[in-house]
Amino acid sequence: MTNIIKDFTIKLPQNLNSILKKIDKNLKGLIFVIDEKNKLLGSISDGDIRRGLIKKNISQIVKINSKFVNTKPFFLNYKTDIKTILYHLQNKKNKNKFKCIPLVDEKKIIKDISTIENLRKYPIANLNLGNEEFSKAFDAIKSGWISSKGSYVDQFEKGFSRYLGGGYSVTTTSGTTALELALKTFGVGKGDEVILPNFSFAASINSIISVGATPVVVDIEEDTWTIDIKKIKKRISKKTKAIMPVHIYGQPCRLDEIIQIAKLKKIYVIEDAAEALGGTYKGKKVGLGGDCACFSFYANKIITTGEGGMAVFRKKKNSEIATLIKNHGMSSKNFYYHTIAGSNYRMTNPQAAIGLAQLNRINEFYKSRKKIFDYYNKKFRSFKFIKFLPKNKWSKNSLWLYTIIIQNFKKEKRDTLIKKLLAKGIETRPGFISFNQMKIYKKYCKGSFPYSEKISQSTLSLPTTNISYKDQDYIISQLSDEINRLNKVQR
Ligand SMILES: Cc1ncc(COP(=O)(O)O)c(C=O)c1O
Repeated sequence: MTNIIKDFTIKLPQNLNSILKKIDKNLKGLIFVIDEKNKLLGSISDGDIRRGLIKKNISQIVKINSKFVNTKPFFLNYKTDIKTILYHLQNKKNKNKFKCIPLVDEKKIIKDISTIENLRKYPIANLNLGNEEFSKAFDAIKSGWISSKGSYVDQFEKGFSRYLGGGYSVTTTSGTTALELALKTFGVGKGDEVILPNFSFAASINSIISVGATPVVVDIEEDTWTIDIKKIKKRISKKTKAIMPVHIYGQPCRLDEIIQIAKLKKIYVIEDAAEALGGTYKGKKVGLGGDCACFSFYANKIITTGEGGMAVFRKKKNSEIATLIKNHGMSSKNFYYHTIAGSNYRMTNPQAAIGLAQLNRINEFYKSRKKIFDYYNKKFRSFKFIKFLPKNKWSKNSLWLYTIIIQNFKKEKRDTLIKKLLAKGIETRPGFISFNQMKIYKKYCKGSFPYSEKISQSTLSLPTTNISYKDQDYIISQLSDEINRLNKVQR
């Protein structure tokens, strides 16, 4: 049950005090009565209670029972479009204006409550925090160790390496600082070049710039959406110190070929695996191929610690250097004596506690995402206007965000589609803007970038977590309607 449903519903019998408390909290003067299965039975307003109090002696109604219930409250179907919901919530001409509307399915089970502040939405990603996260975070806080000291940090790091099946994991404050830490660990800085793909979230290129090195941006391949191996070869120079491939949308890149080039040229491979936790490459978990792989635990990622990240090193020695750097470079034996000019990239103990609980549930998350991906794939199969993220034999996607290409859509049309869907409560995301299309990064982008430009402007990510098949049906039908409408307008 979502928080908003909790705030707006009660089960009877209930004492007067707790009903008034809820009504007071939700600020709408109304509460809905539900049964054990969350089926809508009626409503009680503060007016109903006032009238009851006038009629009866207060002592008689310390318990509120079904006599107070309006058994015909206004409600709407969960699939009702946002415009209609808004009409009932705010239209001044509409006499039947409601402050809150339960949205129910065919069996009258409450699926959501719409208020003017909280219209029914399908967010791109939903948080999945449960009892284990709460109790571990509480335990961490209760222990008094709320900084980076405390046992959960070490447990999370060890548990993460165990999950991957190897490597030495070092927690950080974000995926971005994990990348920065990795670059610093390998001594990448001023005068060095790092090759990366043109299609990624800006954290990849920003991390290189922030350590003082020069990004060298190359195009991606159309059949993997990841860095083009041939282009890497062309751009390697004496200054190249590392390659930063990105497993974009959880899609593993051609890692072995990249590692082969890196070995030959004696340069490092730092994988941006922010979106790829749980993905596999040639049967092994993503994160164990290069010299280091960096993951993000931002709220919309596969597992989350709110903000947070992990740098996983192949060699223990490098993880020790990283641990020193992230801890101000302070000697572990000699307090306040610094052997490296480091920084503070430390994750807190309560965050690590949440991370550990999330890690314990990662297979459950994967299964639930897989169901959602499979259903979209099945339903979209016959849609000519949709192209999928390519699949290959040697890797398995982490199933982060369900991302598709809308055929023959360019940026403007795709962005109109995003707005239209949002008006129907469906949150989507455009593809990342390729670096060569942004002024501040242009100087790092030489040559042409046909594939990243094309993919960037026609991709769309759809809501991917905690949704039912019915929700997906609604999303698919709205998407299809809007695409058809936009295609007609253009003709
Ligand atoms: C490809 C990629 N790299 C790096 C990052 C940075 O991670 P964070 O947001 O945790 O700093 C992200 C996160 O959004 C990402 O998608």
